[in-house]
Amino acid sequence: MLKLLLDPRAEGAFFADTVAVALAEVGAVFPAAEPRVDARASVTFLDVSLPEDAAPALLRLAAVQAVFAPEGGGLRLVDAEPGFALPAELVWGAKYRGKTHELATQLALNVALAHCRAEGPPKLLDPMAGRGSTLLWAARYGLEARGIEHDPRALPDFQRHVKGQCTLQRLKHQERQGSVHAKRKDGVGRFLEYRFGERALKLITGDARDAPALLGGERVHLIVADLPYGVQHVGPTGTRDPLPVLRECAPGWAELLKPGGAMVLIYNRFLPKREALVEAFEAAGLAAQPFEAPHRMSASILRDLAVFTRP
Ligand SMILES: C[S@@+](CC[C@H](N)C(=O)[O-])C[C@H]1O[C@@H](n2cnc3c(N)ncnc32)[C@H](O)[C@@H]1O
Repeated sequence: MLKLLLDPRAEGAFFADTVAVALAEVGAVFPAAEPRVDARASVTFLDVSLPEDAAPALLRLAAVQAVFAPEGGGLRLVDAEPGFALPAELVWGAKYRGKTHELATQLALNVALAHCRAEGPPKLLDPMAGRGSTLLWAARYGLEARGIEHDPRALPDFQRHVKGQCTLQRLKHQERQGSVHAKRKDGVGRFLEYRFGERALKLITGDARDAPALLGGERVHLIVADLPYGVQHVGPTGTRDPLPVLRECAPGWAELLKPGGAMVLIYNRFLPKREALVEAFEAAGLAAQPFEAPHRMSASILRDLAVFTRP
């Protein structure tokens, strides 16, 4: 038996539902773990039936800060590392309006990896990438990553952040800029790519509805996106309800996903409703999975994750 100490930072991401979200994450990543809650004074542990060699993977769970093993009536810290390829500051170092909480993004990535059965080294797409926090998490996990964001200001912001962190952390990297098609005045198609060793991440300016064309024939194992929450007018259409755009995106996203691939969408359960989201992507040939991890963020946002796989 191991005891997982819940990360106090998780409350900033999952609020009063932190323990329920942690249980959902453990259940998705380690289906045989049989997690039980042990809440004492101000700390909460999840007890899991797993061996010590699971510690590195357990430390990659969004909600887990440390792993302990019961020993002689007390607890021994299991001295393990999560084994990330790049430093934490790459993900945590940037603060900007609209950034998805770092742990919510990590949760989505973990759940996507747990559902993915597609072969080969995983490649990820975030088709509504903002300033690229999913791509940076993917890079820490050693994945190849692509992002699409319609706001052209995202590219220079992303560049400032990544360059700054590469200098601070002395990270060996290569930067490449260009356009996926003939240059356009509105910046659509412009991209910025960073290569760290064998893996590259690329942020492209464009519309998520044009994802297959913007990716130029590439296909991916994972799609992870934090969708607009429907509380402000966003995106190229300027509408509040994200559903009409998602319906238009669905065939292209499904086409980009390799057979066995997994998609995790972070969304506000008030808009769109889960049934409507499921309907939109099942109509495109994806299969909805039973995973859910609802957490109340505010009066108007009940955030959750929806999981789809490509048969
Ligand atoms: C919730 S934010 C994602 C934030 C991102 N995960 C981050 O941490 O930087 C949703 C993003 O989707 C973008 N978006 C909305 N509609 C889009 C579309 N049709 N094509 C591309 N991006 C879109 C918005 O501009 C916004 O940046």
